[in-house]
Amino acid sequence: MSASAAIEIAQLRKVFRQTTSGQSVVAINELTLRIEPGEMVAIVGQTGCGKSTLFDLLIGLEHPTSGRISIGGKTPYDDFNAFRGKIATIFQQDRLFPWRSALDNVKLPLELIGIAEDVQHTRAMDWLKRLGLEKFANAYPRELSGGMRQRVAIARAFAVQPEILLADESFSALDEVTAGELRKTFVALAREFNSTAILITHQLEEAMSVGDRIIVFGKSAALLADVRVADWAPADYPVLRAAIQNTLQANAPDARLART
Ligand SMILES: Nc1ncnc2c1ncn2[C@@H]1O[C@H](COP(=O)(O)OP(=O)(O)OP(=O)(O)O)[C@@H](O)[C@H]1O
Ligand SMILES: [Mg+2]
Repeated sequence: MSASAAIEIAQLRKVFRQTTSGQSVVAINELTLRIEPGEMVAIVGQTGCGKSTLFDLLIGLEHPTSGRISIGGKTPYDDFNAFRGKIATIFQQDRLFPWRSALDNVKLPLELIGIAEDVQHTRAMDWLKRLGLEKFANAYPRELSGGMRQRVAIARAFAVQPEILLADESFSALDEVTAGELRKTFVALAREFNSTAILITHQLEEAMSVGDRIIVFGKSAALLADVRVADWAPADYPVLRAAIQNTLQANAPDARLART
């Protein structure tokens, strides 16, 4: 996998069979999408439209029902080991290990990819410092605030120097001030390291403040909108915002976004 791996998704379909009801749910239906290296993409869409399922497929946790995902020519599910340390995720809940200190949580993925112990330590400390947590390196997650825990999760994600960052509602459990700060930190770091970043959010404002590109999913990950913000003049942002908002609420494409 090269440093400039594009994410290519072609006619991707994921059907789940619900164990209790026996019914099938089409989480993703025929999604075709290409994400360029270094792009910062925000995905918005109503609850249950398949956003997290797409992440599970991208990290190789789930296997597509049909169609394909390829990252730098490799498929996440089949070439699982090739992606070790290449893709990092930050979830809504920090998912830190409660029995590990902040430092040991950040070290864990470095351990898993076989980084030497002394390098693990310096790199993890550096990341905690960058996120303003050096004084809390030895603290356990229960001793930290929600915002601090999420900072540890961000440090852990960036410490492996991933090519691809996936953030699933990473800031939505925090108060708006903390969320805003961490969002800025996340964007700045992703740009500094030239990572490809995909951020899932429910909030349009978050998408607008993060994405170079904003994608709106309808039911079963139908592509209702795919907007490059740079194609719009700043003076037209209010129209852009209104059109995306309308797409989200109406769950249907908005004609104002249909530009070529
Ligand atoms: N492991 C699973 N087994 C069965 N059904 C699933 C599974 N994972 C997801 N689904 C179903 O697939 C659909 C899409 O779920 P997904 O979690 O991707 O939605 P989402 O867009 O992330 O929603 P939210 O915004 O609420 O997080 C839902 O109908 C959900 O019930
Ligand atoms: Mg979800």
